[in-house]
Amino acid sequence: MSLTTPAARRDQSYHLHPATNLRAVQTEGPLVITRGEGVYVYDDEGKRYLEGMAGLWCASLGFSERRLADAAYRQMSELPFYHSFAGKVPAIATELAERLIRIAPTGMGKVLFANSGSEANDTAIKLAWYVNNALGRPQKKKIISRKRAYHGVTIATASLTGLAFAHDDFDLPIERILHTDCPHYYRGAHPGESEEAFAARLAANLEQLIQHEGPDTIAAFFAEPVMGAGGVIVPPATYFDRIQPILRKYDILFVADEVICAFGRTGNMFGAQTFNLQPDIMTLAKALSAGYQPISANLLTSKLYDILLAQSDKLGIFGHGYTYSAHPVPAAVALEALKIYEERDIVGEVRRVGPRMLAGIRSYADHPLIGEARGIGLIGAVEIIRDKATKQSFDPKAGVAAYLVRRAQHHGAILRNMPGDNVAFCPPLIINETEIDEMMACFGKALDDTWSMVKEKGLA
Ligand SMILES: Cc1ncc(COP(=O)(O)O)c(C=O)c1O
Repeated sequence: MSLTTPAARRDQSYHLHPATNLRAVQTEGPLVITRGEGVYVYDDEGKRYLEGMAGLWCASLGFSERRLADAAYRQMSELPFYHSFAGKVPAIATELAERLIRIAPTGMGKVLFANSGSEANDTAIKLAWYVNNALGRPQKKKIISRKRAYHGVTIATASLTGLAFAHDDFDLPIERILHTDCPHYYRGAHPGESEEAFAARLAANLEQLIQHEGPDTIAAFFAEPVMGAGGVIVPPATYFDRIQPILRKYDILFVADEVICAFGRTGNMFGAQTFNLQPDIMTLAKALSAGYQPISANLLTSKLYDILLAQSDKLGIFGHGYTYSAHPVPAAVALEALKIYEERDIVGEVRRVGPRMLAGIRSYADHPLIGEARGIGLIGAVEIIRDKATKQSFDPKAGVAAYLVRRAQHHGAILRNMPGDNVAFCPPLIINETEIDEMMACFGKALDDTWSMVKEKGLA
């Protein structure tokens, strides 16, 4: 651990860390990472860690993909910057847009670029508002998100995010944002309720919310196909089959936040394919460039585009975009990443090795500390609980999952704890079976350490 290294102390002096307990980073120091190789990263003392979270759910091709570095260098040498405002475009961005539409689910017609998942979702909110103004429905502006969703941290997307830490003391959420149920069967189902009945109840709740607010006030519904930072929540059977007709019935746009799910993570190229979704807008980021460059995208249907086109005729401009929308360097890296996904059949790889990781996670299901072990493709989680029979959680202040994650790091694997004592697994998609076994072994040792700690302190 880098608690006392000079690099960690230097960082403590100057760097304000995002999404971090600021006191803890001051006392314990950050883990300073200096290089990466395959699925591993190395700290400033040379210790190796298996990156079981692909960084922040994004480094799908690991940490040493030479072709991505070369693509960036080539593009930097040829055209390091150009923009896509006012009728210009860096040529490489056209290639990327074309390729994205070619691999996207049917119905997607245009691509609008940004730099982060938050920006893409923020853009999707603006598009939903803009479209409804264009259609003469100025009151149809509320957005429905879900409890435990994570859609980003800009003012609007933090409001969509259904997790307290994104709101507390930031004066959020803003108005016109609503949160419906989280589709977590283990936590949310009534005793004896089937997955299908649970899904039907949540869909009925959604419809009730829409009717209560007034359907003509609701613009869009946002959902991650599999919820990530809220705890890796895989929706119950028939959930989206029940939700989508309701959205269509009330003419509510469906925004699929594919920031984590896209590009193979759930065992298909897009989460939309895994769950048979027909979104109006898909937001992409993270694995779009394998995490090597900041880039995100909104894919939207031709139908939506036609509305924007007509409105731009009326207003004289489509007045949205960032200096770095379609920046050529991240675009070149993303294009190369998409070529690699296709050449190496990354979806096939996920289907081949995913079951090994899920079996590994589920092999701990009987452990007294594990309430639920869940996942799909190459993303999964366990929920740590105090009492298996009653599903009672530990006092959050005890930091049990955080302790487990620290121990996993000690044993050589980086995992992540999330609210509700969930521990996530989301390794690079290039992970092989030996490396999966290694990751699960580190987790197993950390779980043993945690069990000892819990017994020692009399927490259970
Ligand atoms: C599903 C989802 N949407 C949006 C975001 C926000 O992306 P960014 O951190 O690039 O703004 C994240 C980040 O983890 C995410 O997981």
